[in-house]
Amino acid sequence: MVHNIAIDGPAGAGKSTVAQKVAKELSFVYVDTGAMYRAMALYLLRKGVNREKPDEIGEACQNAEISIEYQNGEQIVLLDGENVNAHLRTEEVSAMASVSSAVPRVREKLLDLQRKLARTMSVVMDGRDIGTTILPDADVKIYLTASSLTRARRRYLEYQEKGEACDLAEIQKTIEERDQRDMTREISPLCQAEDAVLVDSSELTIDETVEKILSVYHSKVSEK
Ligand code: DC
Repeated sequence: MVHNIAIDGPAGAGKSTVAQKVAKELSFVYVDTGAMYRAMALYLLRKGVNREKPDEIGEACQNAEISIEYQNGEQIVLLDGENVNAHLRTEEVSAMASVSSAVPRVREKLLDLQRKLARTMSVVMDGRDIGTTILPDADVKIYLTASSLTRARRRYLEYQEKGEACDLAEIQKTIEERDQRDMTREISPLCQAEDAVLVDSSELTIDETVEKILSVYHSKVSEK
C-alpha cells in the first residue's frame, strides 16, 4: 500500500530538511519538487531564455528532459541525462525558478512526473502546491511555515557557515519578495490546503518539527 505525505510552505521554512528526516523515519522516498523547478530554470538559463518573456519560457520548456533517479536515498535530478544537482542552488537559478515556475506550461510539464512518482511509491513530497494540486488525496498534508525573520536568520547562518558575505535585512527582503511572488501568481499559488495541518517552525527545533509531523501521520493513518 502506497502512502503519501505532502509538505508545502514558503522558502526557508525548513521543508527539505524536515521532509528528508520524516521520509527516513518512515522508510518513504523524499521527493524535492523545488529541485525539478530549479532544473528547468537551469535549462532556461543555459538556453539564454529571457525571464521577462513567459511565452518564450513556455515554448523552450517543452524541449527539456527532466527525470529523477535515486542513489543511496539521494534524489538525483537529470537534465537531458546530466546529473545537475550541483548546479541547482545558485541565486541565479533561484531567481529564474521563481519566475519560470509561474508559467503554466512549466507546471504542466512537471505535474505528471510528480504524480507518477507518488503513485509508484510511498513519498514525502515537498513543494508549494502538493497538497492543493499535485496530491489532493495525500494521506497527510502539512503546511510548514515560519516567520520571515526566522527564515532569514536561518539562511544568514547558512551563508556564514560557507564564509559568504551577507546582510540579514537584505536576505529577509529577498525572502518576502519571493513569498509575495509565490503566493500571488495566478497558477497554483502557494497557499494552505483546507485539510492541511499548519505547523509553524519559528519556535521549534528540526527534531521537534519532525516529531510533530510524524505524530500527525500516525494519528491520521490509524484513523483509516
Ligand atoms: O523550494 P525551492 O526553493 O527549491 O523552489 C524553487 C522555486 O520553485 C520556488 O520559487 C518555488 C517554485 N516551486 C513551485 O512553484 N512549486 C513547487 N512544487 C516547488 C517549487
